[in-house]
Order: sequence, then C-alpha cells, then structure tokens
Amino acid sequence: MTLTRRMFALGTASTLLTAEAAAQVAARALIPFGSAVMISDFRSDAALRDQLARLCDVIVPMNELKWQSLRPNAESFSFKDADEIIQFARRNRKAIHGHTLLWGDFLPDWARQINSAREAERVLVTHIETVAAKYAGVVSSWDVVNEVIAHEPTADKPFRDSVWFRQLGPRLVDLAFQTAARVDPSARLVLNDYDFENPDERTAERRRQALRLVRHLQDRKIPVHEVGLQAHLYGEKPLDARGITAFCRELGRLGVGVRVTELDVIDWKMPGPAAQRDKLIGELTTAFLAAVIEGQRPQAIITWGLSDRSSWIHDVFKRQDGLRARPLPLDEAYRPKPMMAAIEAARRLP
Ligand code: XIL
Repeated sequence: MTLTRRMFALGTASTLLTAEAAAQVAARALIPFGSAVMISDFRSDAALRDQLARLCDVIVPMNELKWQSLRPNAESFSFKDADEIIQFARRNRKAIHGHTLLWGDFLPDWARQINSAREAERVLVTHIETVAAKYAGVVSSWDVVNEVIAHEPTADKPFRDSVWFRQLGPRLVDLAFQTAARVDPSARLVLNDYDFENPDERTAERRRQALRLVRHLQDRKIPVHEVGLQAHLYGEKPLDARGITAFCRELGRLGVGVRVTELDVIDWKMPGPAAQRDKLIGELTTAFLAAVIEGQRPQAIITWGLSDRSSWIHDVFKRQDGLRARPLPLDEAYRPKPMMAAIEAARRLP
C-alpha cells in the first residue's frame, strides 16, 4: 500500500505505519535466547529441563566443557557430562554454544603446573584439536578464549595472568583461534570477556583492548567472528550505555558480531524487597540490551542460568542482609520475572 499525503493529514498513516512496522517485526526472527546449565541441576531437576526445552534456542554447558571437567589428567578426556547436556540440546533442536577452549581458571592442577612454552603449546593445541574436532558440526559457536584481557589493563600489561599467558605470551590468543579455525572452520569463534559495561576508565580500556585484539587477529588473517559480552551486570553501578553502543558498533564496522554470553545481575548491593529488586533488575536488563542492540543486533542473548534456584552469584556475591540473590530471569518457582519480560522485549527490537 502507498501512503498518501491525505492519509498523513487524516492521521491514518501513523496507524498504517505502526501496523507495517509491527508486521515487519513479526516477520523478522527474534534474537535467539539461551541459557547455561550445569550438569548437577540438569540431572536432578526435571522442571528445569522442561523450561530449557520451552524457552531456549541456545544451550551452554556451564562448566562441563571447561578443562577441570574435561581433563582429569594430561592424557585423557572425559566427555560424559558435557555429552549429556549436548545430547539433550540436540534432541530438542537447540544450538549449542561451547564454553570454553582456553581459560586461566577452572583448570586441573596438572595443567596449572605446566612449566615450559613447548609443553604449554603442545597441551593447548592438542586440547583444542581434540575438543573442537569432537564437536565439529555440533557446537555451532565457541568461546575460544575466555577472560584473556587483564582486569585492569595497561599499555605494558594488557593480558590477564594465567599459566597460558606465562608460558606463551600474547600469542596464546593467535594459537587458540588458529587451531579452532583449522579444526572446525564452520564454528563461530568468539573472544569472550567481562566488564565492558561501566562508565569508568578501566572499562573503557578493556573495550579498547578487545578491539585491539580483534584487529590484531584480523591483521594476521586469523578468523574471529564475535566478541562475547559476559554481562555479569552490577546492580549498584551505572551503565555506560553510550560506551557499550559505540563498542558494539565499532565491532560491527570490523565485520565482527557480538553475543551476550553470561547475562545475570549481581544484586548484592541492591535494595532487599523482592518486588523492588526485580523491577530494578528488569530495568537494568532493558537498558543494557537496548545499548547493545543500538550498536548492533547480538547473535544471541544467553543468561548464566535460568532460575534463581541456582546461580554462581549465591556463592560469589553474598548479600550482607542474608537475603537470597535474584540474578536470573525466572524466580525459584520458575515464574518469569521482569528480567524475562525485558529480554523478551529486547529480542523483538528492530
Ligand atoms: C562459573 C560457574 O557458574 C560456576 O558454577 C563455577 O563454579 C565457576 O564458574 N565467568 C565465566 C564463567 O566465564 O565460566 C563463570 O562460571 C562465571 C564467570
């Protein structure tokens, strides 16, 4: 239908435009939503499995693809726990996001003790070859490296300390991406990191370092497809919406996607009353996702767990008043909270 001047004059055009816009939104696929899940919850909780099947497009084994889970010793691999979640995801036709091929944390003792560059390279390359090959065509995206940027990066110390960094230096990133790309050329390769959201210089520098790493890989013709924003948002801190948008937009200019990989809200310093806290958490989620989408449409919005029943926030960011944390989109009875509504609305944003 063509809109005429007369229609505008009569005010019908705006209704038509709205209807047209609505139709466009309906026709466009929603931004995929996903959640991480850990094996103990997955096994013990049928209601959780139902919710994962019902709500998610993407599933992430929360800990089961980490070295500490996969590598009991230097010689072997134990895929049992990861496979259980991955089989469930496949049966339910979910995409699987892999977390993670390289991290300085959640490592078995034997790996922490590696003490030469040669050994580090051999072990790292064999690990990525084995794991990425086993899941080629199954895991559609990988956090190739996790948290390699220093907590507070400076020009002479941009990388986070880890056994990999101590032995291999900055080329650990090249090596990991190169190996993953060689073994599974069809997977989306993600550089995953945290603290990209706050209006301070440390955060701005972290974003600059992420961009620098992306450009570095691109200069060397090493594939990097996305940057993962962990997005463990601090409920008591202001968001740097402009900084987030500019970062996502710049990545888009470089031809690199973004993915929200571990969204949850750290509510340790937020007001106690549940309704008030949930409302603020919903608003923070809306503001964060809007800032990302303004910069570019993310490949997925993934939360670090689905319900408040189970979250790392309970252990790591305890509240002083002893109240339980409410960091996730569903409450303990699997009822959707304002955070879920915020995510649902963001998925529909044009
Ligand atoms: C956490 C898990 O949620 C916990 O169950 C586990 O004990 C430790 O790791 N950033 C990451 C995730 O990249 O792997 C972490 O997950 C949370 C912070």
